[in-house]
This record gives sequence, structure tokens and C-alpha cells, in this order.
Amino acid sequence: MNIYTITVTDQQGETRTIEGIEGWRIMEIIRDHGLPIKAECGGCCACGTCHVYVDAAWAEKLPPMLDEEKDRLMDDAFDIQDNSRLCCQILLNAELNGLKVTLAPGTEP
Ligand code: FES
Repeated sequence: MNIYTITVTDQQGETRTIEGIEGWRIMEIIRDHGLPIKAECGGCCACGTCHVYVDAAWAEKLPPMLDEEKDRLMDDAFDIQDNSRLCCQILLNAELNGLKVTLAPGTEP
């Protein structure tokens, strides 16, 4: 079981570096550390309330977006930007060790 770190900036600008287990969803790791994320649907790609902005340095290491994620972002998330992703659709792996994300508006619990 591998442990990696991610750095998360919340909606208030507070930044924390937290640890997560390989294979877990970024959303689950953020939620389980008690950071403020609504993630209303629990990771089913059905709510858009796990919207994050991914730091530019990590963009190319992310898995490509499936249509389901694109549709959900367009329909349900706020303030979409080029680096927007739904973090329930990103699994932590060695490539993403050190990933930096910022919780987007609309993700407050
Ligand atoms: S938790 Fe609902 S879309 Fe990610």
C-alpha cells in the first residue's frame, strides 16, 4: 500500500498538504481529512460539488476526462476554467504524488 501526498487549497485560501492511499479518489482523501468539500453524490459523478482547479504543473499527468465528467462540469459546477476537474474522477497514483488542487466555488459543505 503506497502513501502519497497532495496539497489542497480550500475556498478560503488555506493550504494543507495531506496524505492519501494509492487508488483512492482525490475527493475521498480531501473529505476524509476534514477539509471543506461538499461532494454531495459521494463520487458518482452526479453533482459537480467536488470541482477543483488543478495546478498547471500537473495538468498533463491527469487522466483524460470522460464525457460523463465533462457533462457534469458543464451542467453543475460554477466558474469553470481550463484547469477544472471533478476530483472524484481522479485516482491517486505515483504520477500524481504531490498534486496541487484548489477547491472551486460551489464546493463548500
Ligand atoms: S462527488 Fe459528486 S461529482 Fe464528484
